[in-house]
Amino acid sequence: RRKVIFDTDPGVDDTMALLLLRYTPTIDLIGITTASGNGKIATTTRNALYLADKFQISAPVAMGQGPSLDGVTSGPPVNVHGKNALGDIPIPPVRRKVIDKPAHDLLIDLIRSNPHEVTLVATGHMTNLALALRKAPEIASLVKEVVLMGGAFGYNGARGNITPAAEANFHGDPRAADEVCGASWPLTIVGLDVTTQTIMTDAYFADLRDHGGAAGRFLWDVTRVYMDFHKSLGVSGIYVHDASAAAFVIDPSLFHTISGAVRVAQGGVADGESIVKPDGRKFPPGAWDHRPSPSVCVDVNADGVRELFRRTVL
Ligand code: BDR
Ligand code: CA
Repeated sequence: RRKVIFDTDPGVDDTMALLLLRYTPTIDLIGITTASGNGKIATTTRNALYLADKFQISAPVAMGQGPSLDGVTSGPPVNVHGKNALGDIPIPPVRRKVIDKPAHDLLIDLIRSNPHEVTLVATGHMTNLALALRKAPEIASLVKEVVLMGGAFGYNGARGNITPAAEANFHGDPRAADEVCGASWPLTIVGLDVTTQTIMTDAYFADLRDHGGAAGRFLWDVTRVYMDFHKSLGVSGIYVHDASAAAFVIDPSLFHTISGAVRVAQGGVADGESIVKPDGRKFPPGAWDHRPSPSVCVDVNADGVRELFRRTVL
């Protein structure tokens, strides 16, 4: 089975990604690390523990660093994911506890002890990944694969969701995003270019609710606030952000990628903007030089992602 670590800020679509990983029989979730984003770190960590408990996920859960590398704590988007970041469903007291180790140390330890075997999926602020790279740069050559949800590269009109220029995960810690995108590891970036192509409607979730057992009913409940937010934007259903990153791990043939050096802007009006220089394009010397070329998703088989999700959680 594929060993997967999930770095996440649950989060409604993070929950969808977690369930997709959890119910894929070929995947062995060996660690969960928490990030800031959809809630403050205490909230996303509580939510990760709650989900691990509820869905019998035995992987250790480690708490991440709350503030960005530059010490910024962003205000959570309560209008998107609800005040508790899980669509304001009632959350009972949680018995599970975090392990006594910060998230970036758990990442380092698991990657070192499973050389060339770990797939790392990241769907929140990239702070923990950057801290792990800073402390143990060798993990870049020890990890099997890194797949992250973040950024927007201008394909299919995608530019930003938290500002006109920036996607939320990258905007929350632009320095970390730039370091993570510039590390020499086998990286695929799943940005708004593809995640906003895959929409799941009320009818889709009603089908899961009615035929998908406990997970299906939970998914219906947890997506209500997130659905209302998308409807307020005029979208016919929810964008499938984080579950698209999980889907890439399971079936990369659903995605079309290009490769090129990626930079994430820091500061100013374009804070958090992500820009790819596709391989082969010639420019005068500049900030994209001497950087590795990760894969950037530019197109997706949206029906394929929806079917994969449905048959996996059902
Ligand atoms: C990303 O931001 C968060 O709100 C979502 O969980 C996703 O990871 C989308 O921009
Ligand atoms: Ca997320």
